[in-house]
Amino acid sequence: MTKRLFIKTYGCQMNVYDSERMADILAPLGYAETASPDDADMVILNTCHIREKAAEKVFSELGRIRKLKERRKADGNDMVIGVAGCVAQAEGDEIARRAPYVDIVFGPQSYQHLPEMVARAARANGQTVLETDFDVEDKFDKLPETSAKNGPTAFLTIQEGCDKFCAFCVVPYTRGAEFSRPAADILAEARRLMANGAVEITLLGQNVNAWHGAAPDGGAEWALGRLIRELAEIDRLARIRYTTSHPLEMTADLIAAHAEVPTLMPYLHLPVQSGADRILHAMNRRHDRDTYFRIVDKLRDARPDIALSSDFIVGFPGETDRDFADTLNLVTRVTYAQAYSFKYSPRPGTPAAVETVQVDEAVKDERLQSLQALINAQQAAFNADMSGRTMPVLLERPGRHAGQLIGRSPYMQAVHLLAPESLRNQIADVTIEQGGANSLSGRLAREDDMPGKPDTGTDEVHAA
Ligand code: 5AD
Ligand code: SF4
Repeated sequence: MTKRLFIKTYGCQMNVYDSERMADILAPLGYAETASPDDADMVILNTCHIREKAAEKVFSELGRIRKLKERRKADGNDMVIGVAGCVAQAEGDEIARRAPYVDIVFGPQSYQHLPEMVARAARANGQTVLETDFDVEDKFDKLPETSAKNGPTAFLTIQEGCDKFCAFCVVPYTRGAEFSRPAADILAEARRLMANGAVEITLLGQNVNAWHGAAPDGGAEWALGRLIRELAEIDRLARIRYTTSHPLEMTADLIAAHAEVPTLMPYLHLPVQSGADRILHAMNRRHDRDTYFRIVDKLRDARPDIALSSDFIVGFPGETDRDFADTLNLVTRVTYAQAYSFKYSPRPGTPAAVETVQVDEAVKDERLQSLQALINAQQAAFNADMSGRTMPVLLERPGRHAGQLIGRSPYMQAVHLLAPESLRNQIADVTIEQGGANSLSGRLAREDDMPGKPDTGTDEVHAA
């Protein structure tokens, strides 16, 4: 009998990938994914610990799931509750103590053992089963092959963990040391994803551009530039992306790949965190603002149409008004297509958390607002600038209105347009008519792509 599996994913794309793989591992045990936890036989929360209140959110969600479990028990059924991901890794014992009704707790590098954990939980008499080992090599060796997913875009984890130890970040503690998968495994997984219908691949890693994997022929290790060039040879693979990168790992070879590989999308997430040298140093980022500018200039030389996004933290311990002004002027100088910004939150166990000069919450709020206003203005300008251009759009999913599809531009912008269902999962040339704050709208550039519909009714598109 099929059992229902509900997985709720928090945080980054790597967690999305991990959740998919958990479903793959549990499929042979008869579990199929369901959209609601209400009557699930197993509920897994795949958690994120990167910023504040993560653990508290997990505990309150667990409170709700517990009620569902009790209701099912009253009906003579059961529900296995699992907590996965980085909160599980960092606070596994705490979860077992505060939420003893949780059956299994497992970190990001141990979910290959899920079937055994489920079996152990069944025999554990209500004791929580805890697995927070760091054997990432074992994980990739033991994972089953990726299951068929129909979507045109796929994630592929090539690297995990981080040895950079930025002073604010929990990742080196929750995901462990850097590990790179061998090139042959990655190429094989990419080919399978293509065979299953994907045309776009996003290579994932906490420090993805630090990837250095065993070469398929046993020769010298490859770096990411080489891997991208090899991936570009795969039939059907029309778009390659990678995220997230550290500025220091943007090697000349990787930058050259941006010039040479047309299927490598002209869009790069390159977090800088701060524009002030003093703060970059205190953050242990290991580079200064000029180094960042030089990398950006080289990327733009290599690929003039490249657009950038970034992450910023405001209110890092000791950040002054002047330091923050340097962040604003870095943003002005670089000009981003998009960026994420966060208020610094002390993470237990990280060096910055015990700094004595913490920035006032109200000051953080103010800084966040002004940074976001600047970033939003840049994003709006970038989007508005698309108007009138024709660009390839990967049509991914139906829109809210009849006949509408939503796709992604090379720059990850959502594009709304009228298009026949037959173009779904394909890349079509779209002429952009309007660039809004968060998305674009347009029409198919070639009328013969749009059978029987000479008028594309753009007003309706704009309503989305
Ligand atoms: N406080 C605020 N933001 C953080 N990030 C990581 N750790 C913290 C923290 N302690 C942000 C960084 C990182 C992104 C994924 O999350 O900007 O690039
Ligand atoms: Fe965290 Fe990224 Fe720094 Fe690693 S490089 S410690 S993942 S912010």
